Amino acid sequence: MNEQLNDPFWGTLPILISVAIALCSVPSSAVAQTRGARHTFDLIAWNGGQFIYGVDYYPEAWNETQWEKDAANMQAAGINFVRLGEFAWAKMEPSEGQYHFGWLDRALQILSAYGIKAVLGTPTASPPAWLMAKYPDIAAMNEDGVRYRYGSRRNYCLHNPHFLAAVKAIVTAEAEHFKNNPAVLGWQIDNEVGGPYCYDSYCLTAFQNWCRAKYQTLDALNQAWGTIFWGHTYSAWSQIPLPWNTLYSVHNPGLELDYHRFFSDATRDFVNFQAQILRQVAPQKAITTNEMGLFDDIDYSRLNTLLDFVAWDNYPMIFNPDYQDYFRSALGHDLMRGSKDQQNFMVMEQEGGVPGWTAFWGKQAPAALFRVWAYQAIAHGADGVCYFRWRTSRFGTEQYWQGILDQDGYLNARYQVIARMGKEVKRLAPLLQGSHTNSQVALLVSPDTRWAFHIQPTSKNFDYYRQFYLYYDAARRLGLNVDVIFPQMDFAGYRVIVAPSLFVVSQPLIQKLTQFVGSGGTLILTYRSGVKDDHNEVTLETLPGPLARLAGVLIHDFDPQVAQKQEIVEHDGSRYPADVWYDILTPTTARTLATYGERYYAGKPAITENSFEKGNVFYVGAQPSSTEFYDRFMKHVFDKAGVATRPALPNGIELATREKAGEKIFFLMNYTNRDQSVNLGETTHNALTGASESTVVRVPAYGVQVLTAR
Ligand code: GAL
Repeated sequence: MNEQLNDPFWGTLPILISVAIALCSVPSSAVAQTRGARHTFDLIAWNGGQFIYGVDYYPEAWNETQWEKDAANMQAAGINFVRLGEFAWAKMEPSEGQYHFGWLDRALQILSAYGIKAVLGTPTASPPAWLMAKYPDIAAMNEDGVRYRYGSRRNYCLHNPHFLAAVKAIVTAEAEHFKNNPAVLGWQIDNEVGGPYCYDSYCLTAFQNWCRAKYQTLDALNQAWGTIFWGHTYSAWSQIPLPWNTLYSVHNPGLELDYHRFFSDATRDFVNFQAQILRQVAPQKAITTNEMGLFDDIDYSRLNTLLDFVAWDNYPMIFNPDYQDYFRSALGHDLMRGSKDQQNFMVMEQEGGVPGWTAFWGKQAPAALFRVWAYQAIAHGADGVCYFRWRTSRFGTEQYWQGILDQDGYLNARYQVIARMGKEVKRLAPLLQGSHTNSQVALLVSPDTRWAFHIQPTSKNFDYYRQFYLYYDAARRLGLNVDVIFPQMDFAGYRVIVAPSLFVVSQPLIQKLTQFVGSGGTLILTYRSGVKDDHNEVTLETLPGPLARLAGVLIHDFDPQVAQKQEIVEHDGSRYPADVWYDILTPTTARTLATYGERYYAGKPAITENSFEKGNVFYVGAQPSSTEFYDRFMKHVFDKAGVATRPALPNGIELATREKAGEKIFFLMNYTNRDQSVNLGETTHNALTGASESTVVRVPAYGVQVLTAR
């Protein structure tokens, strides 16, 4: 963010002050009064008391005579919301300064007549051809110094002054035009911000300015990055390079980590640049942008303090060929909710058919699953689900990315399923409104750590998120909700925090973790924790460095090799395979829970448990690879921490809960093709029929149960 202080386009202090003023002056009751705090935006109130049930709609791509029929079919399916216009810059401004919004007025009028409200995209993800022809350097430059050619989308340089001027003009014009239109509820800024990395001189200068704002002096920067290594000491700010790949060998890890932070900040500034205009011109409308779950170029937790609510794009069919890996999208929902302090969110693009671009990327899913996936979003805190897209495109790159309807517009099986759900969410809205997820267990995600592992994965098979899945899935199989939290957030209220491979640790984070454990919390740390400081420099302390006292262990030897078989052996002789990395632990105050089974360190501690003040710290020195290990280990952890678990859920069944004022809402999702039963251990009411249910609830094949209990 600070790099803009010295950028001629951005001007100086007055703009920053007006941003601050704009951010503090959002009136409407539904719109957040304070940002960053829990539950400050009520999406259902914002949509007039209705659950947001929507589709992404591209009227510009269809004949106007079709619009009314589309709106009628949407209304018949219970659709009350659309997202429009996020790629329509060329249609909104066909030539410089000539604005054409009449088509969008007409579309909004028709949709509105059918009870459908809209979020409008600012169209900046796809700059028009005339603009890029006039200013070819708007296109981002790749690491080899080559500018991208016109075409595709998301191809702009975030710091290009011509681009920013054009963005300012179109966003201002759009906001002015629609500010009093009651059919427009708010804005989606750009589309899936976060790329591409650009290596041109605008970005180089911006990075150098960002470094200067952060370090103030070159001495401080040289010290922080350890530039004495290979004699990279900088004697002028203008010598600082971008981490382009046209160099021999690799870059300094300190420089690279700061570059990731810079890029994330620059993206946030770009969103803020638009948010500032929108808030000034149309302060009564809400602001969001569509994000991408586990996408890791951006620290969403910092970006999202700018937004009224989080929205994200959820495609459970991608990378999930048999559709049984249902915890992947579950974790995406939890991470997105956590990125704005657990506030309810919406899905701006929810899977509506088979994905694909030049080819289809999966097999067709049974239509019923599209309803189950949408309920999964609700179960994790979504107050809105908007399907991508209403109808598959006839042209362009996404002819194979299925919408609800195919190109022929036939009201197919997916439409019927979605229409059924439309009736249900209408009934459920009063129950859902004001209800939130609640959890005693959290996973700590560290953007700095994530980036540092991108720069130095440290071991061939290392995957930061893999451990998240392993611990997350085990907690979820035991019927627990899990929050995802970020380092700057509040840790109070959790009983168990799992912090996989906490590689980069800052002093404030160490203090927070110490306070959390000291006051009775349980912390799980895993291998490669406490290795690096804020600047991506290795600690001088014996590992796990500043976390050693909490963990009650020291690491004098480790084995990063990947090909060798290794096993974890528990006290009762149970053996579990493990891979990726092996920390050989020397307990100081900790007790040994498991040892290694192979190699020269067989019998040496692999997993320990340490009492620290009122709390407990587990250290897992390796990455066990079997689910049996995690089921058993996490059960042990939860029992000790006083977190009540349920008997393991049947395979293919997910349970998640929301709560409000003494009422608990259970969501049971069945992702399998057979009916299954779950013993909830208490009697409930079916939220859709009102019927009482016995403790054992039947969940139909590819079905859902929504139940309440007081
Ligand atoms: C999303 C994107 C949409 C559309 C969709 C299918 O990531 O936001 O605009 O492209 O993927 O490819």
